[in-house]
Amino acid sequence: MKKFGTTVKNNVQWVGKIDDDLRKFHGGDYDVRHGSTYNAYLVREEKNVLIDTVWEPYDDEFVKNLEKTIPLDKIDYIVMNHGEKDHSGALPALMERIPDVPIYCTANAVKSLQGQYGGSEWNFVTVKTGDSLDVGNGKKLVFVEMRMLHWPDSMACYLTGDNILFSNDAFGQHYAATELFNDLSDEKEVFAECMTYYANILSPFSAMVKKKLAEIAAMNLTIDMIAPSHGVVWRKDPLRIVDLYAKWCDAYAEDKISIVYDSMWEGTEKLAKDLAVKLKKNSPMTDVVLCHLQKMDKNEIMTHVFSSKAIAVGCPTVVNDVMSSMGEFLHYLKELKFKGKKGAAFGCYGWSGESTAKIREGLAAAGFQTLEEEVRCNWNPNEEDFAALETVAKALTS
Ligand code: FEO
Repeated sequence: MKKFGTTVKNNVQWVGKIDDDLRKFHGGDYDVRHGSTYNAYLVREEKNVLIDTVWEPYDDEFVKNLEKTIPLDKIDYIVMNHGEKDHSGALPALMERIPDVPIYCTANAVKSLQGQYGGSEWNFVTVKTGDSLDVGNGKKLVFVEMRMLHWPDSMACYLTGDNILFSNDAFGQHYAATELFNDLSDEKEVFAECMTYYANILSPFSAMVKKKLAEIAAMNLTIDMIAPSHGVVWRKDPLRIVDLYAKWCDAYAEDKISIVYDSMWEGTEKLAKDLAVKLKKNSPMTDVVLCHLQKMDKNEIMTHVFSSKAIAVGCPTVVNDVMSSMGEFLHYLKELKFKGKKGAAFGCYGWSGESTAKIREGLAAAGFQTLEEEVRCNWNPNEEDFAALETVAKALTS
């Protein structure tokens, strides 16, 4: 089990925080199932370099633990790969103790750090891709800007000699990993959390992920380990997660169809369940997943959508529109900018019946190929409605 100061490789130590209690991240935008870790690293060569810190609620704990590991006045440089609070939150407490230590980061990170904390007196050194910092013993840290992975200020750095890529958020996962390395962790859970992380945080930036992966590949770095800022350190087959990112950033889809729905009086739910049966009958090998908006968390639903080739979205009409849960889903769907997926609409109504039109509008705004086939059912589904679902099922599986 890792603890503060555990060795990552040679003179590199993990100096982060395991956060078992985390349940909500990014405000309430990300429901966390397995907690998280805020990974910071200490490189101790002829020069001592701290890479990132931890989230603000743990700033005192972080500084105290760091001080037990190394006298703070022996830290020569701080590298801030990213200004978001989960990695920079403890920086102000640390800078109170070592105010003159240079902080290496991108120009955008200076803006985010100063914007959040002031820090006008901090000694920033701005770096760009290809710049490096000599850490002694023949090793250096090479910086790689990771713009929009996932903030404009994001950066990675690569330690030569040890061949470790400190990738910050990229290749990470919200997982309160008690063990440091992927090969010591439950890899099934870890990869599931990686996909959830990609689908919900990095998807909007897939075009930039693709470009960046090509740029990193062209640098011909030997990568022995990838040490992200959340979750496990990739020691065994470290490029496996890079290969997955290469797939995920390229209009990723499995042979899978998700049915995302909400229901007021079970009519739309009956349609959803019957559609699932019909899809399976039409295409037995296709994975069909029912996602009830009240019963499954939104990030899990979005991960299913991310890995689907098509979705069917169902909701009854409420006050000339969709239910608020569906409004929230469609808004979030648009944010994530998924590519190359088909979508169909269905739903019940009593009086005016606008929900399917609203769903189609939402799907189109989110970049889905919206199918003409739909089921707009007055009151409870009857034989005619169930028969119409057959047409929707065929369009989704064709
Ligand atoms: Fe973008 Fe883990 O913060």
